[in-house]
Amino acid sequence: MAEKFKAPRGTFDVLPEQEPVRSWIHDAARRALRAAGYGRIETPVFEDTDLFARGVGESTDIVQKQMFTFEDQGGRSLTLRPEATASICRAYLEHGMQTRAQPVKLWTDGPFFRHERPQAGRYRQFTQIDAEAIGSDSPLVDAEMIVLANDILAELGVEDVRLRLGSLGTPATRSAYLDELRSYLRSRENELSDDVRGRIDANPLRAFDADHEGTRKVMDEAPTLLERLDEADADHFDEVRHLLDQNGLNYELDPTLVRGLDYYTRTVFEFECKRLGAQSGIGGGGRYDALVEQLGGPATPACGWALGVDRIALALEQTEGGKLERRDGVFVVAEADERQRALALVTRLRRAGVTADLDLSDRATKGQMKQADRVGARYALILGKGKATLRDMTSGDERQVDPARVAEEIAD
Ligand code: HAM
Repeated sequence: MAEKFKAPRGTFDVLPEQEPVRSWIHDAARRALRAAGYGRIETPVFEDTDLFARGVGESTDIVQKQMFTFEDQGGRSLTLRPEATASICRAYLEHGMQTRAQPVKLWTDGPFFRHERPQAGRYRQFTQIDAEAIGSDSPLVDAEMIVLANDILAELGVEDVRLRLGSLGTPATRSAYLDELRSYLRSRENELSDDVRGRIDANPLRAFDADHEGTRKVMDEAPTLLERLDEADADHFDEVRHLLDQNGLNYELDPTLVRGLDYYTRTVFEFECKRLGAQSGIGGGGRYDALVEQLGGPATPACGWALGVDRIALALEQTEGGKLERRDGVFVVAEADERQRALALVTRLRRAGVTADLDLSDRATKGQMKQADRVGARYALILGKGKATLRDMTSGDERQVDPARVAEEIAD
């Protein structure tokens, strides 16, 4: 027998039974974003490689190691998009959106690609819902966006979510701070773990995450970036926090929050679901006030986030019962001589916008009831000699109905 193919490493198929929860996530986000005035944009799945090199940052892991890059027939270097922000800023400039009323609020969703080491929750093709508000530096924008992401996750019923919040200030503040932190760590080098000591130059912030007792003591007294923000950045951050408090959001201040993309300035945030393992980040984002200019546009402040659909779906799988048990529509159960009537009825229901299905495999009535349950029908409509019975698949209640009025019956 010929060898069978498998989906490429780090990718997966979404099977019909896994699709409803994903659609539900996309629908909840779409509703919330529309209600908040965000317009949907679609950009290509691949872009010029330089857009990401310049946009995401040459020194990031994403650009250094994780891009799926290829040459087209004309020798141009193209890359499958690893994220949406750079593409959306490119589109903002390409279509002259800076002349529209600011900020321009945009969102998108779809597949993204990063050549990462695959593990549970980390894939080479994954799905994001992304929102961007371009053209305003108001702390209201940061707060609006964080509240929106928070409310989408809450509406979906994702449990054990933690929101971490920080501010990075400007690149100049950040690099001065990292120098200060390196000198501080060197001044207490003999108290640090070997691992942290070896990374003072490459990644001094890592020291804040250490479990090693000596290192923890040193870090308790270490300077933090939040203490080094300049006055304008500190005021901006205070205002964002005040607005989040006013809107009833719980968050943890995390002065060590770093994100894997270079473009962030000021506010950064990450939503984590504690039920997931190592890959617990279900969404994140922040302000990126210099990116549009870096991409050749005028100085334009902006802010955005992306939610990870695959990880949210994993988190919901681990949420007990509740909102995921969503039955929908009608399954028509019919004896052999009622089959034609069943199809006519299903057709009528479908034309009226009702989810409706019927047996297509000559099952006995008992098997059809099982199938009604399996497909997740809310009701079974049992067509018998001269009568029709509507059975509520959740409660088991049954009542006689007029088959011509099923759509109205189930709408009540
Ligand atoms: P990010 O933190 O790189 O941010 O990705 C956002 C979310 O996408 C993550 O929290 C995670 O849920 C999901 N994600 C990322 N990589 C993978 C992967 N390999 N497998 C599964 N899920 C993944 C961004 O992409 C920024 N563009 C967000 C943003 C928008 N910042 C400003 N505007």
